[in-house]
Amino acid sequence: MRLHGKVAIITGAAGGMGEAAAQLFAREGASVAAVDLDEARVAPIVQAIRAQGGTAIAVGADVSRSAEVAAIVARTEAELGLPTILFNNAGVDTENKQSILSIDEAAFDKCLEVNLKGVWLMIKHVAPRMIEAGGGSIVNTASIAASIVAGTAGYCASKAGVVALSKVAAVELGRHGIRVNALCPGATETPMAKHQRAEMERAGLPTSSTLIDRMGVLGRMADPEEMARMALFLASDEASFATGGVFNNDAGWTAMSGISVQDFAR
Ligand SMILES: NC(=O)c1ccc[n+]([C@@H]2O[C@H](COP(=O)([O-])OP(=O)(O)OC[C@H]3O[C@@H](n4cnc5c(N)ncnc54)[C@H](O)[C@@H]3O)[C@@H](O)[C@H]2O)c1
Repeated sequence: MRLHGKVAIITGAAGGMGEAAAQLFAREGASVAAVDLDEARVAPIVQAIRAQGGTAIAVGADVSRSAEVAAIVARTEAELGLPTILFNNAGVDTENKQSILSIDEAAFDKCLEVNLKGVWLMIKHVAPRMIEAGGGSIVNTASIAASIVAGTAGYCASKAGVVALSKVAAVELGRHGIRVNALCPGATETPMAKHQRAEMERAGLPTSSTLIDRMGVLGRMADPEEMARMALFLASDEASFATGGVFNNDAGWTAMSGISVQDFAR
């Protein structure tokens, strides 16, 4: 088991990549604090983990609020022990797909607050506990939208911020034995992606299913577990030399922004 004896905090664990990671990390021996906005939505995931002999607690909290983040860490420490793994995965997209000129201020702020400030607050509160434990590993879910245009202004800007923040944290926390990396998923079939597709269908826009050939070279979206497995690697001691890294897991979507010999041949 790759996470035997570790205590892991996973945010955004009620669905998608976070849920897949909670289950996978628990199967690999970690005690998991599964965090999401509503504790009742994470409870069934925790029950399923416990039914398979794993250890997990459900924590309801908003990662963009300092007091709630402090409470996540206090509960984890009291019920599971000092955290040595943090998977900062909670995230939001703007509800309405508006352009940089029309996006409303509240939607822009929400992206920055949850996706960027939330990651910083979690690091700020969890890292001191990791230092006490002798080190740890932090994985922050950014997105390929950090490096190519694959979303709205608020979303892309927040995810580019997560990449920058991950590098700062890696440099500042490295001397304490804490590794920090950014995971950049490509198109992944999660509740967020399904919600976006429904919204775009309603607006008569091309959806992820019709744009699939422009979203990677494998002709499909990822299963959330394919992201969880990358997060597992980065969280585990197998990635002992990886810190300050930015890891695309995107079926070649970012590589496709270049020009290949096939394009020259056309
Ligand atoms: N699905 C994709 O194609 C894709 C691609 C690149 C990056 N991402 C990123 O991956 C991460 C996981 O996304 P997903 O696709 O599994 O989405 P998802 O919507 O299925 O899961 C995100 C979870 O975060 C929770 N959350 C939102 N705001 C929160 C807050 N303030 N505090 C605590 N929890 C909160 C939600 O309730 C939800 O359960 C996100 O950071 C997302 O931006 C997704």
